[in-house]
Amino acid sequence: MYPCYLFLYALSFGILSADRLCVTRARRSSMASATEMVKLSFQENHVVVNNGIVQITLSNPEGHLTGIQYKGIDNLLEIMNDEPNRGYWDVVWSPPGSAGTKGTLERLAGTSCEVVVETEDQVELSFSRTWDSSDEGKLVPLKIDKRYILLRGLSGFYTYAIYQHLEEWPSFNLDNTRIAFKLRKDKFHYMAMSDDRQRNMPLPDDRLPGRGEELAYPEAVLLIDPVEPNFKGQVDDKYQYASELKDLRVHGWICKDPSVGFWQITPSNEFRVGGPIKPELNSHVGPTTLAVFASTHYGGSDMVIKFSQGESWKKVFGPIFIYLNTVSDEEDPLTLWDDAKNQMSIEVELWPYDFPASVDFQYADQRGVVSGRLLVQDRLISGDDCISAKGAYIGLAPPGEAGSWQRECKKYQFWTEANEDGYFEISNIITGEYNLYAWVPGFIGDYTNSTIINITSGVNIHMGDLVYEPPRDGPTLWEIGFPDRSAAEFYIPDPDPIYANNFLTNDSNRFRQYGLWDRYSYLYPDKDLVYTVGESNYNSDFFFAHVLRKTYNDTYVKTTWTIKFNLDNVNESEAYILRLALASAHQSNLQVRINDLNKDPVFSTGKIGGDNAIARHGIHGVYWLFNIKIPCNYFYSYGENLIYLTQANNQSRFQGVMYDYIRLEALPTSIVKKF
Ligand SMILES: *[C@@H]1O[C@H](CO)[C@@H](O)[C@H](O)[C@H]1NC(C)=O
Ligand SMILES: *[C@@H]1O[C@H](CO)[C@@H](O)[C@H](O)[C@H]1NC(C)=O
Ligand SMILES: *[C@@H]1O[C@H](CO)[C@@H](O)[C@H](O)[C@H]1NC(C)=O
Ligand SMILES: *[C@@H]1O[C@H](CO)[C@@H](O)[C@H](O)[C@H]1NC(C)=O
Ligand SMILES: *[C@@H]1O[C@H](CO)[C@@H](O)[C@H](O)[C@H]1NC(C)=O
Ligand SMILES: *[C@@H]1O[C@H](CO)[C@@H](O)[C@H](O)[C@H]1NC(C)=O
Repeated sequence: MYPCYLFLYALSFGILSADRLCVTRARRSSMASATEMVKLSFQENHVVVNNGIVQITLSNPEGHLTGIQYKGIDNLLEIMNDEPNRGYWDVVWSPPGSAGTKGTLERLAGTSCEVVVETEDQVELSFSRTWDSSDEGKLVPLKIDKRYILLRGLSGFYTYAIYQHLEEWPSFNLDNTRIAFKLRKDKFHYMAMSDDRQRNMPLPDDRLPGRGEELAYPEAVLLIDPVEPNFKGQVDDKYQYASELKDLRVHGWICKDPSVGFWQITPSNEFRVGGPIKPELNSHVGPTTLAVFASTHYGGSDMVIKFSQGESWKKVFGPIFIYLNTVSDEEDPLTLWDDAKNQMSIEVELWPYDFPASVDFQYADQRGVVSGRLLVQDRLISGDDCISAKGAYIGLAPPGEAGSWQRECKKYQFWTEANEDGYFEISNIITGEYNLYAWVPGFIGDYTNSTIINITSGVNIHMGDLVYEPPRDGPTLWEIGFPDRSAAEFYIPDPDPIYANNFLTNDSNRFRQYGLWDRYSYLYPDKDLVYTVGESNYNSDFFFAHVLRKTYNDTYVKTTWTIKFNLDNVNESEAYILRLALASAHQSNLQVRINDLNKDPVFSTGKIGGDNAIARHGIHGVYWLFNIKIPCNYFYSYGENLIYLTQANNQSRFQGVMYDYIRLEALPTSIVKKF
């Protein structure tokens, strides 16, 4: 009875339109025709979907994944865990006004199950629950609709969810949301998230007291007596595996006997938050694989999604694809990673999918396109000419201030990179109102265009040539670093040998080693860093993070870095501009003094940041730019001048900033007049 009944029900309530039921999947059909049809069956408290390649079992009506059967393995998920603790959607939420980023963890459980689509080619299930005032304080005030899709002929399944907050529901904070998969620890031992970060992994037991020793925070554990002795002396910390969202499209695990890969593929970043370079967790010891849709990681409490009463909101997270693959016994199981990358490219190509049956998921023909060219005009570099914004990141995000996208976490964002000549095209944009934002490697600041871009179905908006004029008031006297929102070009020390992870030795991963914050105190035991313009080299003489110094008595004290430079020939200068671009800040107060450390600072940031990138082995968190005007009488007109940079907050050892780039500009009267 259920299919017909549900179909009619769905049609009459407008949940499905008829054409959505006969979606053609031409691109997949050749693959599908030779394979078994998708079958659905109900068992006591469970729903089972099978396409002859993979079988998934879901608890009914909760909608937790309790089983994934593939290639003769009865269950890829951890059978030692309780059923709700194998494959599940969850949120962390807190009452409105809560400080910080912690809250209540809630595993999202449905109260009803519906068959949304059941054809030979596709089964889509919905596990949903609503909210009413009797749930106040107990359940997150959201309507939840979790979907699972199995297609014919495909080695894997899709999942997505629709969250909705109704106007009349109470305000609350959403700290993070994700889907988590706990795989079998007796099977999955090899983890991969990029070509240069993949390896055999320690066991979860290795982290337990006796085998592991907790370091500066619970996530970081020194393996002192691991089951496999070759991990002895390594640090395990899930944050060492974080990746920027733009690079985080496929990650997962390999079982070598039999050869089976379990991969989480995210074909679009549109539903993730914080822009393309926000770092995020993915896979880690467990064996665990996550698809994090929203979180405060590397962003801090600014990334908590705050809902107020009277606010109606709806968002589709996903679909993401769980891809399973295998090779014959003769082949190297590690080639499963290459195949997974290939499948990721296929999924990206197929985006936006044409089969999810929720009306809230927009198909390609419902979306819009924006294109144009971005140019940069910095008159002190190229006069009246513009230069192409090669490699610029260009995105649409909800209307806001310049740079607001990096803290935006409620809606959708669409990003692309400009080509050599600055041309860009952003396609498949969900309908709605946006601003266009950009930043350009090599230049400071943020571009934004205040024109509201209204995306309607099928529009193709040509923006023409857009010109970004980065902050600039006078010629550069000196600069330190390269402006690209990262501290990677600065000096990244070797880790303390007792914490070294030998698989992070590739240069591009050095910053992920544990405990680098304390290497500053090792390299600068008594005196702080001094950087002499013209003599020092920022690759080797400028520590990548301005951290606190650990003293002999284990307190962490504030540090003052000095930039030494000579001035001459600046008689006509009216003032100076110090451009301080930060790649990260954590509960810091950065103070700037000129020539006299005992005077009041000429500038203080005040307490800023909470991205925790220093403790989380990041190379950046959230970007900050401070443009500090310094009257000329602060400097000596000739000879040596000093700029002191003090990070003055030392309540906890992880406070500090990372610089992206520092520049001093002179503002001679003649130049001020010219522009
Ligand atoms: C380091 O990683 C890069 C990027 O994946 C790769 O091209 C290079 O070969 C690696 N170097 C070593 C020494 O493994
Ligand atoms: C955007 O388009 C929609 C649909 O045509 C319309 O309702 C809305 O008023 C438009 N918004 C703006 C700012 O033009
Ligand atoms: C904003 O975009 C419009 C085109 O939509 C363009 O005419 C205008 O010059 C842009 N503004 C800036 C500041 O680039
Ligand atoms: C620890 O050392 C710092 C600086 O060396 C000093 O300022 C502080 O008072 C000392 N704290 C204690 C508890 O001895
Ligand atoms: C902060 O620094 C002062 C000395 O400047 C020291 O007395 C204090 O113990 C430090 N705080 C922490 C938490 O280490
Ligand atoms: C700066 O002023 C000094 C003293 O007044 C003068 O000797 C020098 O030539 C001036 N330099 C420039 C570049 O104007």
